[in-house]
Amino acid sequence: MGIKTPDEIEKIRVACRICKKILLETSAILKEGMTTFEIAKFAESLMEKEGVKSAFYGYRGYPGSICVSINEEVVHGIPSPTKFIRTGDIVSLDVGVIKDGYIGDCAATCPVGTVDLEKQRLIDVTRDSLRMGLLSVFAGCKTGDLGWAIQQYVEKFGFNVVRDFAGHGVGRNLHESPDIPNFGYPGKGYQLKENMVIAVEPMVNMGRPDLRILSDGWTVVTADGLPSAHFEDTIVVRKNGCEVLTSIE
Ligand code: MF3
Ligand code: CO
Repeated sequence: MGIKTPDEIEKIRVACRICKKILLETSAILKEGMTTFEIAKFAESLMEKEGVKSAFYGYRGYPGSICVSINEEVVHGIPSPTKFIRTGDIVSLDVGVIKDGYIGDCAATCPVGTVDLEKQRLIDVTRDSLRMGLLSVFAGCKTGDLGWAIQQYVEKFGFNVVRDFAGHGVGRNLHESPDIPNFGYPGKGYQLKENMVIAVEPMVNMGRPDLRILSDGWTVVTADGLPSAHFEDTIVVRKNGCEVLTSIE
């Protein structure tokens, strides 16, 4: 389940490199006063230039090409021409593309202008929790080892991981098995095998882990209104570690 051939991994690698490039180039244009719709339009123009399609548009009826989630929005923010980004905001950009039938999926949270220290710390801790998680991965490890690595890192800083959404296998489909939770216990969960491709995506709340879904049916927000950050990489599980496919190097 979820194990890919070398050929498939090469195709996912191509999708992932393009996906990361689009994420980086889009994050570079974030500026106070832009709407989340303009941000998505820019990402769409890059997708067209790169010859890829959005992996999100139409997925379970999702109406956007990317997700743009601001401050207390955790994930799945729908781009909107009436939603403006302002200095001091933190903005999660989540990009998924399809190239040659295979998917790449990645996300990052960026500060707009100057943000307060606690928000910057939230971004840093979330990014580093993803790194800690990835460092724990090798063929034979359990999803609980990975989840625990992320959770214990996050909680050391007084923040909370989101329980209600998880990472996932990646391939021809955006969401394949197994689920990759951002919490767990060492030695528990599902065993990861060599050549599985998974997306690891910690969502970290400054306050309580509880969530709400807005009336648009998609936008996930924190119940307490405090900010949340999100980072995601698509990786291949290798014998003694993992290889990050959504990396530009
Ligand atoms: N990276 C996110 C995920 O894997 C984005 C999905 S948005 C959706 O869940 F619209 F496609 F669901
Ligand atoms: Co994902």
